[in-house]
Amino acid sequence: MPMSRKIIIDTDPGQDDAVAILLALASPEEIDVLGIVAVAGNVGLHHNANNALKIVELAGRPDIPVYAGCARPMRRHLVTAEHVHGDTGLNGPDLPAPKTALQTRHGVDYIIDTLMTAEPKTVTLCTLGPLTNIGMALVKQPEIADRIAEIIMMGGAYFEVGNITPAAEFNIYVDPEAADVVLRCGAPITMMPLDVTHQIQSTPDRLAAIRAIGNRTGTAVYEMLTFSEGFDLRKYGWAGAPLHDPTVIAYLLRPDLFDGRLCNVTIETASELTVGMTVADYWHVTGKAKTVQYMRSGNAEGFYALLTERLARLP
Ligand code: RIB
Ligand code: CA
Repeated sequence: MPMSRKIIIDTDPGQDDAVAILLALASPEEIDVLGIVAVAGNVGLHHNANNALKIVELAGRPDIPVYAGCARPMRRHLVTAEHVHGDTGLNGPDLPAPKTALQTRHGVDYIIDTLMTAEPKTVTLCTLGPLTNIGMALVKQPEIADRIAEIIMMGGAYFEVGNITPAAEFNIYVDPEAADVVLRCGAPITMMPLDVTHQIQSTPDRLAAIRAIGNRTGTAVYEMLTFSEGFDLRKYGWAGAPLHDPTVIAYLLRPDLFDGRLCNVTIETASELTVGMTVADYWHVTGKAKTVQYMRSGNAEGFYALLTERLARLP
C-alpha cells in the first residue's frame, strides 16, 4: 500500500469545493489532508472560511485545521459568484453553524511554514479557487517552489473557452496575476480545466444516486449541487451541470480517469478583452517550455462511481 499523499486544499467553498473536500476526507488511505486554506472567490473570505468549517464538521472531521487566507486578489478588485453559489456561497443544505474556530495563523503563512518544514517534494497543493494564496506564498517565500510536490489546480479553459467571460475561467479570471506567478514558479503543475469539467456533468440520475446513499453527507451534497447547478443548467441547457472542483481530488485518486498532455500554458494578464485566458499551446507551436500537464478529457461514469462510493463512507 503506497503511503497516503499529503495535501493542502486551497479553496473558496462553494458547493463544488465542498464536494471536493468531502471526497478527499472520505479517502484517508490515499489522501492525508494536512489543512484547508480559504481564499476569497466564489463569495467573500468570511463566508468561504466559515463554509470550510461547516464542511469538515459535516464529514465528522473537526480535527482538520482551517485557515483564512487572502481576502482579495493580488492587484484587482474581487469578483464573486453569488449568482451561482448563493449569498452564503453554500446555499442548498441547512448546515449548522460551525462549532470549531478558524486557526489564528494566516493561511499564506501556514502554506509557507508547512512547505518549509516538511520533507521537500512531499506536500501537494490542491487548489480549487483563485490562486491568490499560492501566488502570495511564492512572492513572500520563493524557495517554496522547489519544495512543492505538485500543484493540482481546478482552473483554466482552452478548447471549451471561458465561463465568466468568453475567454476566461472564473478561478483564473479573479486573480490572473496570481495565476501567472504560480504557472511560472517551476513546480510540477496539473491543470483540470473546463475542457474536463464540462464533461463531468451532474445529471439527474447521478444526483439521485448520491441522494440514495442515505447518509447525511449524501443528502447535503444532493442539496448543494441541486442549488448550484441551476445557473449552468439555464445557461448551457445540458442534461447536467458541470462539476468542477472534485475532479482535482478524483485525479489524485484515479488519474486513469483523465487524459491530457504536457504543454505550455501562459496566462493573459494585459488585455481587458481576454484577461485571465489560459493560452494552452496544446500543439507545441511556440516552442515554449512545457510547464503544465493540461488535462483535456475525463471519464464521467467512472468519476461518479468513485464519488458516490466514497461519499457513502462518510457520516
Ligand atoms: O470555474 C469554476 C470554478 O469557479 C470552481 O472552482 C468553482 O468553485 C468556482 O470557484
Ligand atoms: Ca472553487
